[in-house]
Amino acid sequence: MIIKQIDAFQVFDSRGNPTLETEVILENGVRGRAIVPSGASTGKFESLELRDGDPSRFKGKSVFQAIENVKTRIEPLLQGKNVQEQQMLDRLMCELDGTLNKSNLGANAIVGVSMAIARASAKAKGVPLFQSLTNGGGYLLPLPEIQIIGGGAHSSGRIDVQDFMIICTGARSFSECLEMTFNIYHQCGEILKKTGRLAGVADEGGYWPEFSSNEEVFDMLLQSIEQAGYHAGTDVHLSLDIAASEFFSGENYHLALENRSLKPAQFYDLISSWCRNYPIISIEDPFAEDDVKNWKKLTTHYGDKLQIIGDDLFTTDTERVKEGQKSGLANSVLIKLNQIGTVTQTMECIRQTQQFGWSPVVSARSGETEDSFISHLAVALNAGQLKVGSFTRSERMVKWNEILRIERELGENARFEGTGVLPFDSV
Ligand code: PGA
Ligand code: ZN
Repeated sequence: MIIKQIDAFQVFDSRGNPTLETEVILENGVRGRAIVPSGASTGKFESLELRDGDPSRFKGKSVFQAIENVKTRIEPLLQGKNVQEQQMLDRLMCELDGTLNKSNLGANAIVGVSMAIARASAKAKGVPLFQSLTNGGGYLLPLPEIQIIGGGAHSSGRIDVQDFMIICTGARSFSECLEMTFNIYHQCGEILKKTGRLAGVADEGGYWPEFSSNEEVFDMLLQSIEQAGYHAGTDVHLSLDIAASEFFSGENYHLALENRSLKPAQFYDLISSWCRNYPIISIEDPFAEDDVKNWKKLTTHYGDKLQIIGDDLFTTDTERVKEGQKSGLANSVLIKLNQIGTVTQTMECIRQTQQFGWSPVVSARSGETEDSFISHLAVALNAGQLKVGSFTRSERMVKWNEILRIERELGENARFEGTGVLPFDSV
């Protein structure tokens, strides 16, 4: 299972932006491929996504240099090596890059090759990726977090909160979660159309309504859940990704929708009032990555009944998660492969999160592709939760559908623990 060739070429993501498709070819002819996703509301501690910056081509967004790095620097480094040595191969790429944020070769170049290595290795062994990644250790189907309304950087900032999602806490199986979501998503669409408030669809497929306050969105969501025949707070809970770094100036949180600026202490009061007044079970990036005081306060007061997820806060970086755990900043970590840049480091971060008794939530990016690697990653590591955006558009559905395929493949060995995967006991 020796690597013969590594190649990359430019393809396009769900926003139509350039990205890399990578290919690892083995001496026995087996090929593994991957496509690299891309974020819009990126954390400042993320690894560097290398783009050419040439305004005359693709508005500066082409990735030809990253492709060149795969062909001329990564291929010679890994040629002749055993594709099954994922850890070693990932380490070699990190060493060749030599920077902390992978800015030399580009995290997009490195993660693309790393994912294609995992794929080629699975294919060479003749087993599905979710089995190959942890040698058959994966059996847990994830509890989905699914976006109904999209905002923030994914809808030109029309609503401040980036994701209004649901978690089907009453569902007894993964399939039931999807059925409930189907009903709620479409109910919500009908209400919006009827009331003339549907302004468009955000980057991850959620509706983008015309509203004048964030609270109005909560009320409409609760109405959608009830009208679809479910009870909010028992069958279904709400989940938010505030992506607060996007509208924090360093001093104030600016809510564009309501045109008001709040001091961090006032913003804390707003967030905690939402958590008290609505059936919210999970909240991601409620504060900016630097607003550590508020993270700690929220976790101290609400951490026994609320999943508090660090995305921009941790950027899938095991060292940042360790520091966060020491300071009690959260109880959950969002996991994105391209934030850290290798499959090995991503798996390490999931395992560290689990060791702390926290919950890892495997996540897609707002710029996605037809690649369903993360579905396999979530099951392989028994991560327990998956977030890939809404319940529409193929770059999202390919991830949910892949879990259905994995469920079928696992047969009787598949498990679903519902809310048992949340980082606290009482729901
Ligand atoms: P991003 O959004 O991919 O634009 O960063 C997803 C998220 O914030 O969770
Ligand atoms: Zn996020």
